[in-house]
Amino acid sequence: MPKLYLKPIYSDVKKIKVDIAPGVETEFVDRDRALAQIAEWAEKSTRWPVVIFGPEGCGKTAFLRQAASALRDLGYDVFYLHPLDRVFLAEVDDPDVKTLFLELVRKTLEDERWGRLSLAVFDLTREILKKRRRKIAVIADDVFQAIGLDKAAAYVKGLLNMIEHPVYSYEKIVVLVATSEGVTREEIGRHRWAELTPMWNMPREGFHQLYEKLPGAKPPFEDVWRWTGGNPEMLARLYKAGWDVEEAVLHLMQNKKLSAEFTRRWRRWLELAVEDPDAIWTGGAPEELVRELEARNLIVYNMYDRRPSFWVDAPPPERDSELGIGKNVAWQTPIHREAVKRALRKT
Ligand SMILES: Nc1ncnc2c1ncn2[C@@H]1O[C@H](COP(=O)(O)OP(=O)(O)OP(=O)(O)O)[C@@H](O)[C@H]1O
Ligand SMILES: [Mg+2]
Repeated sequence: MPKLYLKPIYSDVKKIKVDIAPGVETEFVDRDRALAQIAEWAEKSTRWPVVIFGPEGCGKTAFLRQAASALRDLGYDVFYLHPLDRVFLAEVDDPDVKTLFLELVRKTLEDERWGRLSLAVFDLTREILKKRRRKIAVIADDVFQAIGLDKAAAYVKGLLNMIEHPVYSYEKIVVLVATSEGVTREEIGRHRWAELTPMWNMPREGFHQLYEKLPGAKPPFEDVWRWTGGNPEMLARLYKAGWDVEEAVLHLMQNKKLSAEFTRRWRRWLELAVEDPDAIWTGGAPEELVRELEARNLIVYNMYDRRPSFWVDAPPPERDSELGIGKNVAWQTPIHREAVKRALRKT
């Protein structure tokens, strides 16, 4: 009897290992819908570069690493670039290209011209395809800081050209990019060169699984959910701080440079926004303030329609006032909102 050929589906994806906190290693948790999306991209190719944005620490990097691994398992040649973490991988079958890439990585680690390596993928994919039609994936995590924010749009255009006008034809192609820069999103969004796709913090169920992985005594899940809104980075930070929420809030206040001058200047709007983030959408808040809040990664401005096809993984709820999620504007996590509240109280 002929063997049944079963198409790989997301549940078959080999999960990568991730570190949630020092000494706490786990498998990639949940994000089932996002895993199914990888399988779909692998099947159909991405028509545009998929540029993923979302709250800091929501899990973009973990997801892209998982995507790189899954695509490799599906027979793709994968380039993975993460200049901020100094991680560059060429999981490709062509030994010559692999050698070229490693040589370039070695040079780059010496002279720290990270942008050059990000640009090299254009030549390297061409080199691979010159020899044979293949499945190619380019996965670029936070490359815009390395190549310069002013060149972000041009880089994305280059990636689009790779999809639309390849010098040598490919079998399939998947291009995924993540950015934690709210500002680049605007720059890229002005052109129609990419599919700008938001990703939110983890859904409650999945986040619960992650919470369970943390050892030791911990506060009830309900509290952790209300503080973090499902943000895995915030979960890790709280864990490291011995669940001291106060410490996490103060840390963020410093980190975001919420100075007396800043809060005094924007007090009226900030007071409205901590009550209801949509106030800065409907109330016509100054563009300068919106840019400031975006650049500091405090809010996500212009949340998309919650239709799942617009999102990586599950979209957030339409509104959740407890978590600071409005229809059009959302605080990245409740702790981000709390940091602003504290700063307001201090001045
Ligand atoms: N699905 C997941 N399963 C297990 N751990 C996860 C998952 N998603 C994220 N994490 C962990 O949560 C932390 C934050 O995630 P990650 O670094 O991927 O976020 P990010 O969105 O890339 O952040 P940034 O905006 O700072 O780049 C990391 O320690 C990561 O390993
Ligand atoms: Mg990241």
